[in-house]
Amino acid sequence: DEMATEIPMSQLVFTKETLNISVVNKKKWTSAQVLSSEILQGFTCTTVRKASKSKIKNLVHACRPRKGRKKVALKESQLTCMYNLLDESLNQNFNEYPADMLLYFNSKDVEKTNCRSYFSAVGAADFSVSSPILNKGQQLFSEARGGISGFNLGKEEVSVLGSLSCRLNSSYIQNSDPSILENLKSCQDFSESQVAAMETLLLSGKTSYGNVTTWNKQTLQNLAPLPLYLTENVWSHIQFLHYILTSRKNHNKEKLKSLFKHINPRRVKRGAGCTVGNVTSITVRDPSFPFGYDLTQFDLCLDVPVLKENLNFICEKVDDDSFQEVILRKLNEAYPSGVSEENVQVLNSVSRSATLSDISKWSITKIDTLSALMKPEDGSWEAAKSNAVITKYLDTPGNSLGTSELNAIDANICSLDVTVIKNITPENLRNAKSLNVESCSLEQKRVLYEISNTSFSSQRSNPTNHYNLINNYLGKTASSHSH
Ligand SMILES: *[C@@H]1O[C@H](CO)[C@@H](O)[C@H](O)[C@H]1NC(C)=O
Ligand SMILES: *[C@@H]1O[C@H](CO)[C@@H](O)[C@H](O)[C@H]1NC(C)=O
Ligand SMILES: *[C@@H]1O[C@H](CO)[C@@H](O)[C@H](O)[C@H]1NC(C)=O
Ligand SMILES: *[C@@H]1O[C@H](CO)[C@@H](O)[C@H](O)[C@H]1NC(C)=O
Repeated sequence: DEMATEIPMSQLVFTKETLNISVVNKKKWTSAQVLSSEILQGFTCTTVRKASKSKIKNLVHACRPRKGRKKVALKESQLTCMYNLLDESLNQNFNEYPADMLLYFNSKDVEKTNCRSYFSAVGAADFSVSSPILNKGQQLFSEARGGISGFNLGKEEVSVLGSLSCRLNSSYIQNSDPSILENLKSCQDFSESQVAAMETLLLSGKTSYGNVTTWNKQTLQNLAPLPLYLTENVWSHIQFLHYILTSRKNHNKEKLKSLFKHINPRRVKRGAGCTVGNVTSITVRDPSFPFGYDLTQFDLCLDVPVLKENLNFICEKVDDDSFQEVILRKLNEAYPSGVSEENVQVLNSVSRSATLSDISKWSITKIDTLSALMKPEDGSWEAAKSNAVITKYLDTPGNSLGTSELNAIDANICSLDVTVIKNITPENLRNAKSLNVESCSLEQKRVLYEISNTSFSSQRSNPTNHYNLINNYLGKTASSHSH
């Protein structure tokens, strides 16, 4: 009911008067709860000096973390002021206070039996608000550990630490009771060294998740969201993934793309720069490449010279559309005046993510290049793009839709204009393997049939092929007519 009557921002300035409004307009505002984060951020010791204890309490209470509301960002001076003002009347319900203020609680403020809930609540604090001199994180951590030193935190200690575990460095993570993984599941983000430590712990096989080589999809789900942060250090040991990755040639590209989307990290990293590790000629030879790279990192970690050197290895292994777009963009950067035949030949399924503008920069004059681009196992072409590729080839003087060309383009013949199809000679069509014309228009089928009929009349030595052709062109045409 309080939230329904927000006062317009323009009327609100954090002054003594504002504080009084909250009392005067009691009907509208039962407390300071409706003040916006921006206004609460104006809290100063000076403005509240004369306010009553209960009013101050209300204000501090309004600054606590609340669902659906922006965090009230307070500075150390404000937080210590709040603490000092309430010092004598602090209670044990820690969620009533801004999490950052909990940093300034002293051991006297937390009853022994409430240690756990205190550490759980303070785990949400932004430790960076506290000046390094106070070293609050370290101090709290020592208190939580009750003076015990060493990096191996026991099960009980881990349980007391709760979300404070998110602040632990790698030394602690990799040497602690494996139950620490459960605490880490609630962290917002990890540093690279924290991830490495988690991986060391997981690879030790001493966790409840067992030996990494036995993990299955269920294990990954149970570990969620941690798998999103893991790298190929772990991926390479997971047998079912390893199997899929090493035998990826035999797998349907669409399935690989979807698998990739589901298991590859999509975390958003703060800051710029490659943090996962530069793509090198060694990493691209690893069967698990590019698992472990999210889109941003793939982009940042793949240098153009490395791409040029290793284009074939990279194109062989990258199935994700967005990653393929990164490759194509960098390829254009690498070769601003056009991509050579040799490079176009190793694009594999990456070619299917190309735009018409990309294709216009490719050199396609040799039958080997056309054949490489038309390989059906690399996925189907959009008609306009297939047309662009074949047209580019045919634009080279001396090139035509000969038998080898027809064998290479097969079903993609349906992407060509009828005027182009008409140029196929009966002899070339006769010598080609039976083409799949299922997706061709009636007009295209008719033209092909006419050529095929002539090719049969001119040479009756290959009746099987003629039968197939007739079946293909006439049969399909006839049945389309009858529907
Ligand atoms: C982790 O923190 C402890 C205590 O501050 C320190 O002694 C240790 O060297 C740190 N470990 C790493 C890997 O930074
Ligand atoms: C996990 O299992 C594999 C295969 O059985 C074995 O080679 C490896 O040593 C095991 N790892 C650990 C940490 O026990
Ligand atoms: C990655 O490559 C960039 C330049 O290509 C280099 O400056 C950086 O040091 C490399 N990083 C690592 C970790 O090798
Ligand atoms: C196919 O060829 C035969 C013999 O050369 C001819 O009689 C017939 O009309 C042709 N059919 C079509 C549809 O062109």
